[in-house]
Amino acid sequence: MPLDPLTPYGNRPMVTPIVNAVNYEYASFEVLRQITEGEVEGYTYHRDDNPTVREVERKIAALENAQDCVVCTTGMAACTMVYLTYLRAADHLIIFHDTYGANYKVALILERLGIQVTWVDANDYQRIHEEIRPNTRMIVLETPSNPLCKIIDIAAVRQAADASGAMVVVDNTFATPYHQEPLALGAHLVIHSATKALGGHNDIMAGAIACSKDHYDELWFTRQAIGTTLDAYSAFLLDRGLKTFELRVATMAESAQRVAEMLADHPKVSRVMYPGLPQHPGHAVAARQMRRGFGGMLAFDVGRCQDDAKKFINNLKVIYHAVSLGATETLVCIPHLTTMLYLPPERRAVFGVRENTVRMSLGIEPADRLIEDIQQALETV
Ligand SMILES: Cc1ncc(COP(=O)(O)O)c(C=O)c1O
Repeated sequence: MPLDPLTPYGNRPMVTPIVNAVNYEYASFEVLRQITEGEVEGYTYHRDDNPTVREVERKIAALENAQDCVVCTTGMAACTMVYLTYLRAADHLIIFHDTYGANYKVALILERLGIQVTWVDANDYQRIHEEIRPNTRMIVLETPSNPLCKIIDIAAVRQAADASGAMVVVDNTFATPYHQEPLALGAHLVIHSATKALGGHNDIMAGAIACSKDHYDELWFTRQAIGTTLDAYSAFLLDRGLKTFELRVATMAESAQRVAEMLADHPKVSRVMYPGLPQHPGHAVAARQMRRGFGGMLAFDVGRCQDDAKKFINNLKVIYHAVSLGATETLVCIPHLTTMLYLPPERRAVFGVRENTVRMSLGIEPADRLIEDIQQALETV
C-alpha cells in the first residue's frame, strides 16, 4: 500500500510525510489478520515497517532497477544484515581486502560464529575461481573500491561464483546507481551506505539493500528481528536527498574527472587512482560496466611522505578535511590516519595504500574553484 495521506478533497502533499508513530491503531481484527498474514501491506509497529521508510525503499529500488529494497540504520547495518541472513556456521565467505574497513571487524565476529573468511586483493579478482570452495556461500566486493578505486569485473565474479552457487554482493556506495547497476551485471544483492551520496548532505546515517522480492522478505525478517529499522525523520531526509541525487553525482563525477586529469600532470603528485583515466589498470572494465562517468571518488599520493600530504591538506581553503564521502562538500582525508587506522600493518600493505595517499570525495562546488584550491595547496608542499 503506497503512502497515501489524502486530504478529504484528494490533494496529496508534495513531500513525503514523516510518520513518526511507533504503533498504529488497528482498524479491525480483520485488518490485523490481513497485515500479519501478508495479504495487505499495512503498518502496526515501527520496527516492522514505516510508511516514510517504505516510500524511500521504493525510490532506491527504482534507482537500482531492483524489485525491492530494504532500508536500515547504517551502511554497516546493511552489510551485517546480509551476513546474518545468508551465512551459517561452516559456510565460506570471500571478501576483498578493498572493502570498507569496518567489514574487517564484522568478519572477526563472523569467524567467532564459525564462518570461514578468505580475503582477496581486488587486483587479483581474475583468480577468484581459485578461492572458491564447495561451501563458498557469498562473495562481497566493492567497485570502485575504497580508497584506491580498484575495479572488479562484476560479471566475471558472478561467473566464478556460479561454480558453488555463491551469492554475489556488491557494495555500490562509491559508484552509486547513477553510474553502475550491479544487479544487471549479475549481482544478487546491492548494498549502500545511504549515509553517502544517496542522502548526500552529511546529515543522516542510513543503509540500503536493493534486491529481489524473495530476498526482500528474508532481509526484512532479519531487520524486524534485530531492530535495525531506520527512523522516519532520517527516511524523510534521505527521500529529500534523492530528489537531487542524479544532479549531484553527475556534477561530482565531472569534477572528479577534471581534478584527476589535472593531478595526473602535476609534479607534486606521484600517483593518481581514478578509473576515468586511461592509464588506470581498471579503465577498460570500468568503461564497460560503469555508465555516464566514473564516480566522484579518487585517491592520489602527495609529495614524498606523510608530512607532505598533511601540509597539502592543512593549506586547503575550500576543501574540507573530514572522513565520509558523497556529500555536497568536497572532502579529503589520509586513509592511513582515518579509515584504515585500525587495520593490522600487513593488511594495509596488501591494499597498496601509502602513508601519503590522500582520498578525495568530490562535492558539488564549481570545479574551477576546487582545482584552484588544490593547485595552490600543492604549491606549498
Ligand atoms: C563503501 C562503504 N560501505 C559501507 C560503509 C559503511 O557505512 P555507514 O558509515 O553508513 O555505516 C562506508 C562508510 O564509509 C563505505 O564507505
